[in-house]
Amino acid sequence: MTSNRRTFAIISHPDAGKTTLTEKLLLHGGAIHLAGEVKARGQARRARSDWMKIEQQRGISVTSSVMTFEKTQPNGDVVTFNLLDTPGHEDFSEDTYRTLTAVDSAIMVIDAAKGIEPQTRKLFEVCRLRSVPIITFINKVDREGKSAFELLDEVADTLALDVSPQSWPLGMGGTFEGVLDFASGAVSRPEGPSREFLGKREADAALPPNLAEEAELAQAGYPEFDPEAYRSGDLTPVYFGSALKNFGVAELIDAIARHAPPPRPQPSAEGPISPERDEVTGFVFKVQANMDPQHRDRIAFMRMVSGTFRRGMKLTPSGLGKPIAVHSPILFFAQDRELADTAEAGDIIGIPNHGTLRVGDTLSESNRVRFTGLPNFAPEILRRVQLKDPTKTKQLRKALDDLSEEGVIQVFYPEIGAQWIVGVVGQLQLEVFVSRLEAEYKVEAVLEPSPFATARWLKGPDAAVRSFEEFNRANLARDRDGDLVFMAKSPWDVGYQQDRNPELAFSTTKER
Ligand code: G4P
Repeated sequence: MTSNRRTFAIISHPDAGKTTLTEKLLLHGGAIHLAGEVKARGQARRARSDWMKIEQQRGISVTSSVMTFEKTQPNGDVVTFNLLDTPGHEDFSEDTYRTLTAVDSAIMVIDAAKGIEPQTRKLFEVCRLRSVPIITFINKVDREGKSAFELLDEVADTLALDVSPQSWPLGMGGTFEGVLDFASGAVSRPEGPSREFLGKREADAALPPNLAEEAELAQAGYPEFDPEAYRSGDLTPVYFGSALKNFGVAELIDAIARHAPPPRPQPSAEGPISPERDEVTGFVFKVQANMDPQHRDRIAFMRMVSGTFRRGMKLTPSGLGKPIAVHSPILFFAQDRELADTAEAGDIIGIPNHGTLRVGDTLSESNRVRFTGLPNFAPEILRRVQLKDPTKTKQLRKALDDLSEEGVIQVFYPEIGAQWIVGVVGQLQLEVFVSRLEAEYKVEAVLEPSPFATARWLKGPDAAVRSFEEFNRANLARDRDGDLVFMAKSPWDVGYQQDRNPELAFSTTKER
């Protein structure tokens, strides 16, 4: 049996139109009824929670969320879409990376005027690393931008990928006339406030010869769509459109329903776990504290890997070792959260908890499965945390534990001295950290320079680790899990120590 679940993420650089496209996808899926609701909901949420201040100030999205919607296909099948939003800002690549461990495919949104930006490229590389196949949506064709050919070549060249256009913009910017769908031959044209769909024959007759020729050239000049090549990550089908003006969105949903892979086996210590397995298994890829400041709740987002989950079921989190009953699992819709009575492979459920569930935890009935592949990344910026009010140490410790769990920061407790260090991959994470400390934990702190430039997780034979520890205590810290970390003053320092201690591994990532 093939699953009707499609679990995917939208990746893009900020401003490419991710929010607008998400809204239009939900609109097409019938999940919301009025354009503007995603944003409206966002604003209501922001008004309630202070820590979203930064989102508001910068106009960017820094947390990821999940939205589920259904759509009946022309053949009567109902497809369930689980859309995972990712932070668009490059500083949040770590969070994005974890989100991408929980999806089976992704849509890459590109702004037609700007082409591929460095951040988009980075995100794409993460997808490639995780073998997440990509459908490309070139947005904003209603605006003056690069030519469609230029854009296709740019995608192909920068990403070293075959591109297969599935539709074609008829003119761009001022000359934009509509989008031609190659599969049906239909043109959707803006006609006053709504749009008009032309059938193939009418389209042929109505297209100006130069545009018809261009579209033909595009179809002939690029590889045909090959589902195998798409799923193996060697080819991306490309759709042109405008999220704002609602062009190409329906085609995009159809493409996901038809081509995007259903839930895939997930890597575990014992080998891949198939979605067909009877046992309920899943993993936590994100934990979000204080989603609702009134309730101080803490939600663990679990990606279901196999089995059919039923509400009230007992599952054992790998980090805890004993079973918990999952009484109030949450499904996320555009406007609502609902209690999930059942969930299947590919679904994302939220599990409210008080700190028992952590990112990277496997949940299973047997407690025998361990999913792999959710790493921590070596931070590139390290700062000392200095409390303004030294009596708040306890609150600070709690905040550091919570926020490192969420992946907002990483925390390092030095072996010598009492000054705790936070590490991040990007500057913006620090601002989110300080702002959330104040808003949610009532802790005021300043971040001071630390003598360290980067950190490496230490692994090796016990004796070698112990002797290294003895001589380098001033440069060692423990992370949140108590694992040993070498704090390096420079990358050169890492190389130097690596040369002197060949039996030790100085690792830039740590499996959760
Ligand atoms: P993001 O989530 O990727 O950051 O992008 P978002 O959807 O917020 O879109 C960024 C800007 O681009 C918005 O304009 C949005 O209206 C515009 N936009 C999105 N899709 C299209 C499109 O297909 N065509 C055109 N012409 N514009 C598009 P803004 O002025 O920054 O915000 P707003 O004033 O519309 O809220």
